Amino acid sequence: MKINVAIAGVGNAAYFIDKKINLLKKNSFSHLSILKNNNKFNLTSCCDVNKKKLKLIGKKFKFDSYHTSFSKMIKNENIEILIISTPTKFHIQQTLQAIKNKNIKIIICEKPFGFSYKKAKKIIDFSKKKGKILVINYQRRWDNFYKKVDRIIKTKKLGKLNCIIGHTDKALYQNSCHMLDLIVSFAGPVKKVLGFKDVSNLPRLVHSYHDYGGYIFLQHMNKTVSFIKASQDATNKKIFELDLHFANGRIKIPNDDKYIEIYKFKNSKQFKTYKELELVKTIKNKEEDRLLIFYKFIEKNYNKKFFKLPYNLYENIEPLKIINSIKNKL
Ligand SMILES: NC(=O)c1ccc[n+]([C@@H]2O[C@H](COP(=O)([O-])OP(=O)(O)OC[C@H]3O[C@@H](n4cnc5c(N)ncnc54)[C@H](O)[C@@H]3O)[C@@H](O)[C@H]2O)c1
Repeated sequence: MKINVAIAGVGNAAYFIDKKINLLKKNSFSHLSILKNNNKFNLTSCCDVNKKKLKLIGKKFKFDSYHTSFSKMIKNENIEILIISTPTKFHIQQTLQAIKNKNIKIIICEKPFGFSYKKAKKIIDFSKKKGKILVINYQRRWDNFYKKVDRIIKTKKLGKLNCIIGHTDKALYQNSCHMLDLIVSFAGPVKKVLGFKDVSNLPRLVHSYHDYGGYIFLQHMNKTVSFIKASQDATNKKIFELDLHFANGRIKIPNDDKYIEIYKFKNSKQFKTYKELELVKTIKNKEEDRLLIFYKFIEKNYNKKFFKLPYNLYENIEPLKIINSIKNKL
């Protein structure tokens, strides 16, 4: 039996990001790019307030039905998996409606999952109470490339992780949240947040709100410290770099997804009794499609009685907690 999937909001995250900007195609960034090739999923219905887009997408992906109203779609269609890729301001309210719908089993909502940590947490609590599977679409969580880094951290191969430095694009809610979520996946939930929004660069206008960049210091529960510079102009100068400092070494990821450099302390050639960092290994990305990995996971686990995500869903809203606590600070 095929699984009935519906999607709300048929813009960039639904499809156009792959059509417009994805040159290499090694990763799919949009839901429909993956779903169109998977015969386990039945594209039941889609909805969008923009009729032109709705018609275009509806025709291209051969949905059974199209709607301009979210409420009517979820009321009238038999949906098992619902993807919410509408603008951020609708995430909480639409997820709430979806949780209350008895047919919908899985809700895949785009990041950052609304703007408010408190509201996001309440909705996660509610989804658990109702026995629904909720996923927030932070795609790097499914990437074997980043899982390798995670394994090095968890197995303490380079000793204790002391500090993470991340450089990324501005627009905290729209872009930088990806970096924040990845750092939380490495170092765990945060205890203290310091920082301020970036007022030296113009904010990005996203769905008619001003989305600022920022400079953020975090102390994680496990005492690791992170610093995130999230001020790069995201419109055409993309940056996503990581530098992880361990007691016995260092990991650098100089460009998003390209390769991992592992450094270890080795006997110094210039100073007696000292050790210095030396590059010992470079791991290239195997270029697996992380969104495909995610949907394969959903497919495999859909009928299981105890469907469980491989990570703690509450971690995915730590970025909101962080952004909320610095957003009014200059
Ligand atoms: N995971 C990722 O890498 C990624 C990438 C891009 C965007 N996003 C997220 O996806 C969400 C959408 O962003 P986007 O760039 O695709 O925006 P977009 O404007 O391209 O698409 C949103 C679509 O939703 C439609 N819409 C607006 N209000 C609606 C409503 N009430 N009901 C139904 N449809 C409605 C719009 O007409 C539009 O077609 C944002 O939350 C964004 O943060 C995530």
